[in-house]
Amino acid sequence: MPESVYAESLASAAQPHPQLHSRLQLTRLLADSGSNQTQADQGLQVIQGLSKTPKTLPAQYFYDDRGSLLFEQICELPEYYPTRTETAILQAYAPAIATLTGSCELVELGSGSSTKTRLLLDAYSQMGPTPWYCPIDVSGGILEQSAITLLQDYPTLNIHGYVGTYEAALAALAQPQLPTRMICFLGSTLGNLNPQECQAFFDQLTRSLQPGEYLLLGVDLQKSPQQLEAAYNDSQGITAAFNLNMLRHLNWRFQGNFQLDNFEHLAVYNAAEHQIEMHLQSLSAQQAKLAALDLTLEFEQGETIRTEISRKFDLTTLQQQLQQQPAQAQPGTTKRLQPLQTWTDANHWFGLILCQCQRG
Ligand code: AVI
Repeated sequence: MPESVYAESLASAAQPHPQLHSRLQLTRLLADSGSNQTQADQGLQVIQGLSKTPKTLPAQYFYDDRGSLLFEQICELPEYYPTRTETAILQAYAPAIATLTGSCELVELGSGSSTKTRLLLDAYSQMGPTPWYCPIDVSGGILEQSAITLLQDYPTLNIHGYVGTYEAALAALAQPQLPTRMICFLGSTLGNLNPQECQAFFDQLTRSLQPGEYLLLGVDLQKSPQQLEAAYNDSQGITAAFNLNMLRHLNWRFQGNFQLDNFEHLAVYNAAEHQIEMHLQSLSAQQAKLAALDLTLEFEQGETIRTEISRKFDLTTLQQQLQQQPAQAQPGTTKRLQPLQTWTDANHWFGLILCQCQRG
């Protein structure tokens, strides 16, 4: 699951067996999601987005419990190729990745159910007696549940999980328990950031990594508009339900009265920007309120709210961007991300890039 700041925690995970407990450490960095501060911050982003022309909403509002389940269903759809293509690449190349990096601690951003990570854990388990895994996710329920399952399945694995945003967790990471570390950012969640956010994110990753440490990035690649639009307009309507669920989530969170059946899912490929854009289109002139934010919205018939961008990458351009220096590097302490190797599937639909943090 991608980072989902507003995900409601699932039913809390069962208490781990004491033997598992000794191999599990959890650091909770998120303030109580019901706190006034958190509510106020969340509301501000919604007000800002809905006050723009055209209207936008932050994509993290997809991921309440229902949205997270719908996203898992999306990953299984015949039209949604990214998940199974990335899984196939990892199946083929996880041992090669492990051989290149040597034994290292795995840090995963947006770990969710950690399904694909198992392929890496299998490879790294061959390299040393005590593999270490640091999942980072804002949904504490999902993180804890998947950590316990992993500890049961990997008898020598140690886990230090961080419940929090990427920023907070990267800043709070403990010293690695193994000689080196690899940060994994899979699933092409990078594509949900605009170019400025993407550069800021790379800068932050570079600051978080020590020279010699690694970054493994999974990215969706440019391909025909027909194939891309089919992936985001699936025939079972699961992506439409996922998109509309954002309004249900806002209604619940901010005492709203959005009429879901008065909006329609729209996903179109913007070829100039190389990105899928998901929208909710108003089917009539209408008004909606979010009482908790004191916000009244007017919609014209056909007007849209953009809920997500999903950028599709060119591997060469992305590798160049990765090498750029962090914006705020101090003289003499500059670091950069050096791409070492890329792997793709036979169709070149999806790519994995392994980078190493290097000086200068
Ligand atoms: C999480 N993220 C990488 C997905 C994507 O493809 O951009 C979210 C998604 N939106 C609709 N379908 C999947």
